[in-house]
Amino acid sequence: MGPKGPEPELLSHERATMAKQIDRHLKNKQDIELIASPITLPNGVVVQNRLVKAAMAEGIGLGGGPPRSGHINLYRRWAQGGWGIIISGNVQIDPRHLASPHDLTLTPIPQNLDAYTSLAETVLSASSTPPLLLMQISHPGLQSSSTVNFSRLPWEPAIAPCSARPDMNGGIYGWIWGHAIWPKKSRRVEDPNEWLDLVTKFVGAAVLAEKAGWDGIQIHSAHGYLLAEYLSPLTNPDPVRLPGVPEDVPLRLHLLYLILQGVNENTNHKFVKAVKINCSDFAHGGLDEVQATEIVKTLISWCLLDIIEISGGTYTHPAFASPEILTSASKRQSLFSHFTTSLLPFLPSAPDGPAMILTGGLHDRELIAASLRERACDLAGIGRPSCVTPDLPNKVILNRKIRDEDASFGRYSIPGGDLMKSLLGGGGGIGERGIPLVGAGVSTMWHEWQLCRIGRGEDPDKNMHWVKGLLVEEIWWEVLRGGPVGWWNTWRS
Ligand SMILES: Cc1cc2nc3c(=O)[nH]c(=O)nc-3n(C[C@H](O)[C@H](O)[C@H](O)COP(=O)(O)O)c2cc1C
Repeated sequence: MGPKGPEPELLSHERATMAKQIDRHLKNKQDIELIASPITLPNGVVVQNRLVKAAMAEGIGLGGGPPRSGHINLYRRWAQGGWGIIISGNVQIDPRHLASPHDLTLTPIPQNLDAYTSLAETVLSASSTPPLLLMQISHPGLQSSSTVNFSRLPWEPAIAPCSARPDMNGGIYGWIWGHAIWPKKSRRVEDPNEWLDLVTKFVGAAVLAEKAGWDGIQIHSAHGYLLAEYLSPLTNPDPVRLPGVPEDVPLRLHLLYLILQGVNENTNHKFVKAVKINCSDFAHGGLDEVQATEIVKTLISWCLLDIIEISGGTYTHPAFASPEILTSASKRQSLFSHFTTSLLPFLPSAPDGPAMILTGGLHDRELIAASLRERACDLAGIGRPSCVTPDLPNKVILNRKIRDEDASFGRYSIPGGDLMKSLLGGGGGIGERGIPLVGAGVSTMWHEWQLCRIGRGEDPDKNMHWVKGLLVEEIWWEVLRGGPVGWWNTWRS
């Protein structure tokens, strides 16, 4: 028997460690290769990689209108960042119905079109491998406030398939907020001609987007906006039949059918058509996963779409904005992947069917790669982290020098965020229930302020206290400089 010592064990331990490192290195490489691989859409357009900058209202400028210099700077930074697709923030098709006073609007005015054309040209020329640029066209429905947006008189109601006020779900505090933001309940649209007029506006916006050189549109049919309200049994309990829709189309899909049909008839085949829909409204009596599954299958059967994005929640039940309210959210799962993993394996893969974007909580490279591998999605939508790191794909996700364990980018907290949530009635303390809209608003505003900084040519500031953001970004830059001073400058020039 030869001498026994610790050496062989040490060697095998070292070998095991080395093997592990090689395995890890290979896995990193495979993950990056998978995420960096292109995908072809049903219309033949190729997306260069699997990373999508999700739609986010930019929060730049007041009072609607077309993009400003801040938008151009912001989109240039995103366009240089390595994204496969960039989806704009919600662009409202009716300037009187805004979701926020900062929203972009698109109407057939020549100056409007020039500004949208400049934005598209900026994205196209910002890098040698430009992303696809999609415009999210939208109508906020009953969630549009007349008192917050100043886009119509305070007593003019929002419109919806029902007469209601968003449910603030927060006792007396919620009642006060609710009545301050929505002094009147929404007006129920009953006349089919009024719905057809909205179809014309959506189709008209898509045609303008194509004219302005955008690669496509995304129709916002999620988060409790007008088209999502039309799909939901809670807000559209008694749907009206719209003319010109085939008999076999379910009533609550009539509006979306007419819009998609109109967009297809009036734009080029290569113009990308996408829809963002909820897998669930997360509200009692609202759209649930069974109904959402049927909707996705029906949408696919029409062969009118290149991309479907899955999200969830409404502004009063903001699952999409508050991962912490979903008990199933874990490191190994994105917010809505339980829905897509059970549905996608039964659907045709792109290019035989639309490519599926999953958005919400996909904030780490391994998770994105695992989601693509398991076909929880074909494309990964990323929202909030792209506000603090606009070049996330090049800098982190596709950067081979960054190890997997360091390629996690959603773990940051908003300085002062929890305190502000508590003070404003949005909860925030452990076990504390609050008004979800307020909680979501605190996070959304902080991320928009990061976008405003990028728009001014500055870097995002992860350490920015919420109160500083409110005073400097919102009140000084947006309201005072962007409001009266901005109007004064425009008037003088
Ligand atoms: C500042 C901000 C603005 C947003 N605006 C929109 C919007 O205009 N349209 C939309 O569909 N979703 C909007 N969202 C939701 C995002 O597209 C996305 O669904 C959500 O942030 C979840 O993705 P994440 O976990 O990667 O952030 C917004 C989110 C944030 C943070």
